[in-house]
Amino acid sequence: MPPMTKLSVNINKIATLRNARGGDMPHVAEAAKNCERFGAQGITVHPRPDERHIRYSDVKEIKPLITTEFNVEGYPSKKFMNLVLEVKPHQVTLVPDPPEVLTSNAGWNTIEHFSFLKECIQEFKSHAIRTSIFMECNEDFIENAKKAGADRVELYTEDYAKGYLKDPENAVAPYVYAAEVAHKNELGINAGHDLNLDNLAYIAEKIPELLEVSIGHALISDALYFGLENTIQMYLRKLEKH
Ligand code: PXP
Repeated sequence: MPPMTKLSVNINKIATLRNARGGDMPHVAEAAKNCERFGAQGITVHPRPDERHIRYSDVKEIKPLITTEFNVEGYPSKKFMNLVLEVKPHQVTLVPDPPEVLTSNAGWNTIEHFSFLKECIQEFKSHAIRTSIFMECNEDFIENAKKAGADRVELYTEDYAKGYLKDPENAVAPYVYAAEVAHKNELGINAGHDLNLDNLAYIAEKIPELLEVSIGHALISDALYFGLENTIQMYLRKLEKH
């Protein structure tokens, strides 16, 4: 039986909503706890340097409340590294996003940034924090992620999500291959970006080794219509193995 794919809910959008009014509604840490209560198997946060959604203080507040798995994503600047080393989440996901981008828009080039990544990963490893690297479906980059010491790769699924609308089989093929390469290199496999209720089940079925998906934008948007509890349950059902 393949491992279960865990659903980690990215709560950045809840922080965006809070920040729109400058107060404390909705309460981000409370929302994290409720996501877990409603069935989420992990919570993801992505603090950006300008703290326009999740703030560094949120990350510190949320960590002790989490009973499932806490995943902190971001570019490994000195400030981010210090935050992660202080908070000690279960997993850190390294993303190569420059400060000004709206959302992550590329995976790591693990050849060009090999020494930098290796150093960062070693630092996290020495604090027993699992490290995942946000990646495109590139065989050489995945093999180099392993050489740099990564525990997992997170496959960047924007292209899959776009391609799925026209031709699901073609869209998923590079991800199936990338997952095979990762698996052969004894890397765990996560995935994220633009996953939603339509496209999630198909990729989860095609990649049996998929350990975790982190989903934010679509899930929080769906929650406007279905409510957070129902929505989380709907996403969980898409991940059930038959
Ligand atoms: N994974 C990474 C590395 C991300 O940066 C994001 C967006 O913050 C996600 C997953 C989640 O993407 P989405 O919000 O489209 O579900």
